[in-house]
Amino acid sequence: MEVADVHKRFGPQPVLRGTSFLIQAGEAVVIIGRSGGGKSILLKHLVGLLLPDSGQVRVFEQDLATMGERELLKVRRRFGMLFQMAALFDSLTVYENVGFVLRRERKHTEGEIRRLVAEALEMVDLPGIEHKMPSELSGGMRKRVGLARAIVYRPEIILYDEPTTGLDPIAASVIDALIRRVWRHLHVTSIAVTHDMKSARAISDRVLMLHEGCIYAQGSTAELLESTDPIISDFVNGVDNELAPDKTP
Ligand SMILES: Nc1ncnc2c1ncn2[C@@H]1O[C@H](COP(=O)(O)OP(=O)(O)O)[C@@H](O)[C@H]1O
Ligand SMILES: [Mg+2]
Repeated sequence: MEVADVHKRFGPQPVLRGTSFLIQAGEAVVIIGRSGGGKSILLKHLVGLLLPDSGQVRVFEQDLATMGERELLKVRRRFGMLFQMAALFDSLTVYENVGFVLRRERKHTEGEIRRLVAEALEMVDLPGIEHKMPSELSGGMRKRVGLARAIVYRPEIILYDEPTTGLDPIAASVIDALIRRVWRHLHVTSIAVTHDMKSARAISDRVLMLHEGCIYAQGSTAELLESTDPIISDFVNGVDNELAPDKTP
């Protein structure tokens, strides 16, 4: 995947101002940056849900902006997505939620769907909960069912938007561990955005820092934590992290 000099503005407000980076197949990457900094907007560009004002997004060596809707759908089929607001359907069982995309595609028998759903639920350590309703699950379990739904059709790239936001620390570390497991066992490319450095360290090998619409820095979490650049250091040490307790005066 290659993002090359992408600019995007909403009215007068520039959000992406020349964002560029490369991600190789099989990498586990986290994009960090402050809230409102354009991380979700950037993720939407990676699957063609938004198109850049200028610059290019190439995925599987194709420029998304040149594709028709049918081609875009084919590309999106190769992605799994766990988006912040992607809630489960409350009126459907876990089985129906996780198997939803497979059933819509009409390419699998019901028996195959059963097996694939069971495997996906096992991958997130929730075997045998097919019959449960979302209302019976905790927030962390719902996220894990969301993850099962994202992996059930064997995507090549998985996008995570703030996968641990809103979870307590224990549920969050469970999700981090599952993201790592999915990356290792399913050999996917893993791309997550978060403002949580702890999560970034747990799930990625490489961190890209989005700052003022550009990739300001990149490296391992250790490298970023050791940086003497005040912008990097303030962010990774939590000064600029709205959820960090040490921001309270
Ligand atoms: N559809 C939209 N129309 C106008 N402005 C938007 C839209 N979506 C996001 N924005 C603005 O773009 C900025 C970046 O948003 P977002 O990518 O959601 O930030 P992040 O995910 O890093 O918290 C925010 O200031 C937000 O208000
Ligand atoms: Mg966001």
